[in-house]
Amino acid sequence: MRLLFFFLFLPSLLPADNPIKPIPKTIAYNQKKAELGKLLFMDPQLSSDKSVACVSCHSFDHGGADPRPVSIGAYGKTGNVNAPTVYNSYFNFRQFWNGRAKDLKEQARGPLHNPVEMDMVTEEIERYLRSNDYYNEAFREIYHRAPTHDDALDAIAEFEKALITPNCKFDRFLRNETTLTELEQRGYRLFKTLGCATCHNGINVGSNSFQKMGLIFPYPWKKTFPDRYNLTHTPTDKNVYKVPSLRNITLTAPYFHDGSVPTLELALQRMAYHNLGFDLSSDEIEALIAFLSTLTGESPPILRESR
Ligand code: HEC
Ligand code: HEC
Repeated sequence: MRLLFFFLFLPSLLPADNPIKPIPKTIAYNQKKAELGKLLFMDPQLSSDKSVACVSCHSFDHGGADPRPVSIGAYGKTGNVNAPTVYNSYFNFRQFWNGRAKDLKEQARGPLHNPVEMDMVTEEIERYLRSNDYYNEAFREIYHRAPTHDDALDAIAEFEKALITPNCKFDRFLRNETTLTELEQRGYRLFKTLGCATCHNGINVGSNSFQKMGLIFPYPWKKTFPDRYNLTHTPTDKNVYKVPSLRNITLTAPYFHDGSVPTLELALQRMAYHNLGFDLSSDEIEALIAFLSTLTGESPPILRESR
């Protein structure tokens, strides 16, 4: 089985010996918009019960993801899916597990209105922003008009653009600035030869294609999950998701769309079994985890700067 995969996927590994690309050390963004977006991202007044902000489910202390298996929104309503990280999300080819938003601005519309998340309507958002002196002034300065819902989405997206985690050990290795330990190198080789890199590759080590969870051995499916089927209603799209990014993966437990897996070790076992059709040895897991740990970058500069 392993050999079959190796040959099956070999062609896709050949053109680029390094299937992973480093993220840029810095990214150009509009500072004023991003700072405004940062405030909005952290403002619970933007939810119907004034208790939930974007940051409630995308915690800066947990790699931009939610440490709870499923998120809890306004009035304590629970969702049915694990919140992915917002870090490096600018590089995702689409947003959401099933890719239903084309970019960050379109994405941000979702949680603000979702009844199990922030549960707001456009008018309420604009009424609140216009009633606040700080926002009024900031929006007028940047957008030359009173606060609008659309401009708020624009500012939030600009803040998220700044949420990159540069200079992880692996990126520095790709830029020839450092070397990997033997164990890390072994993990990287396994990542390529076992077939992980066929789905997890590119600048975000994922987040650039839709793939089936349970390609070889089926994974439990529920109608309520936001998979591709939920969008297309094509039976073969059941359990098909945007491949998650593996950047900062040591920080973003629990894992998988259903948040069912508490440890990275178990996630790798499940992944190999369901999508590659074999079990990993404990040595292989150790090496893979050593490699994956090199994908943890610096926290985003915009979170370190004070306003
Ligand atoms: C109640 C919890 C909750 C709140 C509040 C919340 N999110 Fe999310 N976020 C989620 C969940 C859950 C998903 C995955 C939903 C899906 O894919 O169907 C998600 C997905 C995302 C994604 C897509 C990431 C990816 O890899 O596809 C981005 C970006 C994001 N949220 C940004 C925001 C912003 C901006 C806000 C505030 C306007 C926000 N979130 C508020 C829970 C939350
Ligand atoms: C056929 C494509 C495919 C292959 C091969 C594959 N993965 Fe995945 N991987 C996915 C998809 C799709 C998900 C999302 C699954 C879900 O949430 O249900 C995922 C999720 C993960 C996660 C959890 C990420 C998170 O944030 O929840 C980890 C860790 C992971 N993969 C590592 C690996 C490793 C290591 C290998 C090789 C042993 C591998 N994957 C092979 C497609 C693949």
